[in-house]
Amino acid sequence: MVASVIDGKAFAAGMRNSIAGDVSRLKEQHGITPGLAVVLVGQDPASEIYVRNKARMTREVGMVSFRHHLPQHTTQKELLQLIENINNDPLMHGLLVQLPLPAHIDEESIITAIRPDKDVDGFHPSNVGRLAMGKSAMVPCTPLGCLMLLKDELGSLAGKNALVLGRSNIVGKPMANLLLREHCTVTVAHSRTRDLIEHCNRVDILVSAVGRPSMIKGNWVRPGSVVIDVGISRIHNSKTGKGRIVGDVDYSEVSQVAGAITPVPGGVGPMTIACLLANTYRASCQIHGLKGETGTTQEL
Ligand code: GUN
Repeated sequence: MVASVIDGKAFAAGMRNSIAGDVSRLKEQHGITPGLAVVLVGQDPASEIYVRNKARMTREVGMVSFRHHLPQHTTQKELLQLIENINNDPLMHGLLVQLPLPAHIDEESIITAIRPDKDVDGFHPSNVGRLAMGKSAMVPCTPLGCLMLLKDELGSLAGKNALVLGRSNIVGKPMANLLLREHCTVTVAHSRTRDLIEHCNRVDILVSAVGRPSMIKGNWVRPGSVVIDVGISRIHNSKTGKGRIVGDVDYSEVSQVAGAITPVPGGVGPMTIACLLANTYRASCQIHGLKGETGTTQEL
């Protein structure tokens, strides 16, 4: 069997297009322009690229991007003051603090200070709890993107056996909760899991977010299953001297066995920013007492 390729890049482009239409109607009908504040502390080069891309795409869908770039030596108190200001600013509907933060700042205190209805990352304990209870919540962008691709591929997920590889707060745990909310039977595997290949072989849906290049081989995967690869690892080819991005899944092997698979790059990656924009649109509507689902997220 040769797997069909799940084109996250095209799906995300369609979502951004639909969000741009929603934003334009929101401006016309209600005079509201969604605003997203992104806070970056320090000089991490990867984070700087992510933040720049988020700002560009925010503007491209007609929203306002507010970028706050603070120096590495910013104190926790100063960062908390900025969050407080953004929480109270009516033009900023979404607030994202780019992680990781410098070691002298306590991440948990920062995330907890963000107003839950502006928490477009879905990291605040109130949103985490609501999702775990199966209620509507701001949902972390990467797992939300994975879920949208899965639903587009499979329709209803009810009764499917799903394995989530990885238990991070950003991807693994919210992914497991989202799949549970969709009535899947969910297993979460991690670095201490025994008989991992057997777990993989058993499931209809495999979502991997462990950051181990090409770990999942063709014989790990159940024929016909749907494989979502969240991993992004840069590997160096000593022959060509060039770097290359690969996922957790050995694409050349697994694409011969699975029913459908996301490529890396071009699979889950572009969905993360599209879902951030969807969450920002939703936050701006809800803050103004309007129903805030975009065309692509209303059934979630
Ligand atoms: N760093 C890596 N991924 C993320 C994310 O999804 N949100 C934030 N705020 N920081 C990140």
